[in-house]
Amino acid sequence: MSSKPFSVLITGTSRGLGLEMVKQFAETQRPLSMLFACCLDPANSEELQALSKKHPDIIKVLRMDVADPDSIKQAAAQVGSLLGQSGLNLIINNAAIAVYSPFLKSSVEDMLNCYKTNTVGPMCIMQEFLPHLQAAAKHSGMPGMSCHKAAVVNISTIISSNENVNFLYDNLPMVPYRASKAALNMITSCASLELQKEEILCSLLHPGWVRTDMGGSDGDIGIQESVQGMLQVINSMTDKHHGALVDYKGQSIPW
Ligand SMILES: NC(=O)c1ccc[n+]([C@@H]2O[C@H](COP(=O)([O-])OP(=O)(O)OC[C@H]3O[C@@H](n4cnc5c(N)ncnc54)[C@H](OP(=O)(O)O)[C@@H]3O)[C@@H](O)[C@H]2O)c1
Repeated sequence: MSSKPFSVLITGTSRGLGLEMVKQFAETQRPLSMLFACCLDPANSEELQALSKKHPDIIKVLRMDVADPDSIKQAAAQVGSLLGQSGLNLIINNAAIAVYSPFLKSSVEDMLNCYKTNTVGPMCIMQEFLPHLQAAAKHSGMPGMSCHKAAVVNISTIISSNENVNFLYDNLPMVPYRASKAALNMITSCASLELQKEEILCSLLHPGWVRTDMGGSDGDIGIQESVQGMLQVINSMTDKHHGALVDYKGQSIPW
């Protein structure tokens, strides 16, 4: 792994896994040049603001509504004005919403909301921020693919997997959410083919079933354990992870 400073952008950092990722990146993943912590409402994200005050040299809090393409464009321009020639090394598309309805109760509105936030949002982010990733890939001088060079890690879920469709279906039918994450998997897979020659790594990561607002209090693991595992996996990612879905322990998930 490179010891050169690298830059990271994370979406959905007001709470849950996104907030903990900002904390652990700032505290354990040095040298970092910039950590862009994106959220819907910076003024009301107190814990995130407190973290950025603790690490003012690296954490930059930005507003980004991932369901709004104009907001994504504005954030990409802001990030561009703050980045040097070395570009942006890593994007983690973490922001998402969950809708818990089963198939027979899933509405058009539920489906569209989930797709807007969980699928179209990450797609637009990958497209808008591509010049910053390309700059990082060119500037790095490292062979092969890695998250310290140029990468997008999209946070998906084991329940997006067709092969695992029975998994927790009775407790977690979540049809709009499952479908939007399955579509995110396909978008990531297609992007991995188009971005292969530029050596921009595109990968998918399942955080485990985690006790957050989304995961609920019955989850298998806590936020700290999930993020520690995900950061370890992110640091170990190579060409082998391009287009693949793995969990926070590094185990591959068929989808
Ligand atoms: N927890 C689990 O067990 C589990 C399992 C598998 C996968 N995941 C995935 O892990 C990721 C994080 O989940 P979590 O458990 O931390 O969820 P969470 O506690 O519900 O937090 C979701 C985050 O996404 C943000 N967000 C939602 N819509 C947004 C938008 N339009 N623009 C910007 N930010 C938005 C929320 O911001 P606000 O605070 O402003 O609402 C919040 O910061 C998600 O991708 C989720 O699908 C979680």
